[in-house]
Parts: sequence; C-alpha cells; structure tokens
Amino acid sequence: MFLTFEGMEGCGKSTQCKKLIEHFVRQGHDVLHTLEPGGSRLGKELRRILLDPKNSDLSSTSELFLYLADRAQHVSSVIRPAMEDGRTVICDRFADSTVVYQGYGRGLDPSLLHHLNDVAVQGLWPDMTILLDVEPEIGLRRALTRNMQDNKTATEGRFEAESMAFHTRIREGYLTWAALHRGRFLVVDAGRNPDAVFDSILRGLEEKGLG
Ligand code: TMP
Repeated sequence: MFLTFEGMEGCGKSTQCKKLIEHFVRQGHDVLHTLEPGGSRLGKELRRILLDPKNSDLSSTSELFLYLADRAQHVSSVIRPAMEDGRTVICDRFADSTVVYQGYGRGLDPSLLHHLNDVAVQGLWPDMTILLDVEPEIGLRRALTRNMQDNKTATEGRFEAESMAFHTRIREGYLTWAALHRGRFLVVDAGRNPDAVFDSILRGLEEKGLG
C-alpha cells in the first residue's frame, strides 16, 4: 500500500504521519516512512538546494525540474523497491505538491505538471492521498513557531517566507486539485486537535477499504 500526505506549511503532516505509522506498525505492517523532497541519497542534496533561501533566484522551471528529478530518483530507488518487498509506504508530500506549489502557486500549467509527474512516477501513483486542509493563517503561524523552535529559518525557510497571497493560492489549489481527483483524495479538516484529525483519517481509510 502506498499513502501520501499533502497540505500547506504547518498543516500537521509530521504529527499525522507519525500517528499513522504507529497505527500500521501495531497492525503488523512493515512501514517505510519517507518524504519529498529528500527521500533518496540524491534527493537529500536536492532538498538542501531547493529549500535554501539563498536560492530564491531559482526560476520556476528549474525549480520544477529539480523536484521532478528528486521524485524520479525517489520512486525508482526507494519507493518502488519497498513496494516490491511488500512494505507499506507512507510519504510526506509527493506528486501533488508539484501540481499545487509549482502550478497553482507559481503559475505553471497544472495539467502539464500532471503529465510531467506521470513521467517521474512511472505509473506508481498512491492508493490514497490525505490532504490536511488548514486556513493559511493557522498553518503559517504553526510553521513559523516550529521553525524557530527547530532553528530552521536559516536553511529551510524559503516557502514559509512567501506572501500570504501565495499560501492562499496553495490552500485553494489543493482543494481544487483534490476535487478533480476525488477517488484518490481524502480531505481532512486539520484545523482541529491532532486526535480528532487522526480519527477522521482512520475513518477515511476504512471507507476506502485501506484501514
Ligand atoms: P516540507 O515543508 O513538507 O518539508 O516541504 C518542503 C517544501 O517544498 C514545501 O514548502 C513545499 C515544497 N515543495 C514544492 O514546492 N514542490 C514539490 O514538488 C514538493 C515535493 C515540495
């Protein structure tokens, strides 16, 4: 089984990923927890480049191809082998992040990005994508607090530094894209406390026969 988490900064992906992994491990699954960008050896280097505020002059197109390179390598060297070994893969961000951030956020064509993603993932699409939906004001506040606590501002602050208009486009882009792919997406209100959010995720998984 292949599950992905999506959502804007501060939506609670890390917390919910952790809860879901614990849940599946209790059920006896062999779980691989991975992320994008940065899930492969090459990807770790790409992540550093992509999220470094010093690289804010990256053009939208070069940024796009770096994310796609990260994904292609991640799928071929990490995700596909894990699936072939019968493992359950839980990935923090995947192809939909590119459609939403580079498409709805940066202004590239979402349907072109979907086709490019198809090349990168080589047929390996998630069984389900969990979108943690949160108001941009709440998400950004959480993300900035977390970055200060983790002392991350110097190296990983590029997207958090974007304007509120950008983050509003991200939130709306996710909802639009999820509505176009209802069969795969589970949209969860992530403005609530983490236990309530997790209950909704478990219910959604059961409804889709993946619980
Ligand atoms: P993270 O904060 O979840 O670690 O993600 C890093 C940032 O990378 C986040 O702001 C979204 C951005 N991103 C894209 O712009 N396009 C992509 O394809 C991916 C995977 C992430």
